[in-house]
Amino acid sequence: MRRFLIAGNWKMHKTVQETEAFAADLLPRLSAGSASRPDILICPGFPLLAAAHKAFSGSAVSWGAQNCHAEAGGAYTGEVSVEMLKSLDCTYVIIGHSERRAMFAETNQSCAAKIKAAMSGGLKPIYCVGETLEERRGNLTNDVLQRQIVEGLDGVEPGVDGVLTIAYEPVWAIGTGLAATSEMAEEAHAFIRAQLRDKHGEKTAEAVRILYGGSMKPGNAADLLKRPNVDGGLIGGASLEAESFAAIISHAEALAEH
Ligand code: PGA
Repeated sequence: MRRFLIAGNWKMHKTVQETEAFAADLLPRLSAGSASRPDILICPGFPLLAAAHKAFSGSAVSWGAQNCHAEAGGAYTGEVSVEMLKSLDCTYVIIGHSERRAMFAETNQSCAAKIKAAMSGGLKPIYCVGETLEERRGNLTNDVLQRQIVEGLDGVEPGVDGVLTIAYEPVWAIGTGLAATSEMAEEAHAFIRAQLRDKHGEKTAEAVRILYGGSMKPGNAADLLKRPNVDGGLIGGASLEAESFAAIISHAEALAEH
């Protein structure tokens, strides 16, 4: 049984003050600890991580980063290492988000290096995959996903303890309000899990959580989360407001036995 992970990707939004205000708004909305509560994560921008650490310490909410560098340290102006993130008690790091692939030249190969660095440094990677609209229209979705999985996980040993999370984020659904239908999401998630099964075996495939990302909102979350291979959400826009993020968390909690 995989526990849901409800993760917020704040992208380049919010300030320190807004991070504090968000935490003050979100925390009272969460239910008292229960077995069915999902894992909850916020990934703010790097300069907000110290504020997230302060605001969420001791709560049900974890914090993580949106990117990291593959090298342990060195002359990489403007970059952030896994060790720096660990020193802020980050638990997760998003790797290979489509915005980073499209705008910052991330490749499956650079993702593989980052995933390995994250895992060996004790961070849990959330590896993002997903097709563009053109690729979906050209019937290339599975080819693209397969390549992203094979190349992005090259040399990665995901193990059986669920350290690796994959986020299926169809590029055409991100920030557009046009979420994938739950049928489309389930089909892609099942395909990704089958790839993991082929390469890493049944136990690993069952342990890896596969999140859906792309216009997940309170109104469509339950439908998506009901699907057997959808293990949570990576949420952009709807994670910026405590009310909508908490509503998605409640849906996951209600469906915990899925
Ligand atoms: P969205 O973003 O929920 O605003 O579509 C999701 C993401 O980019 O992770």
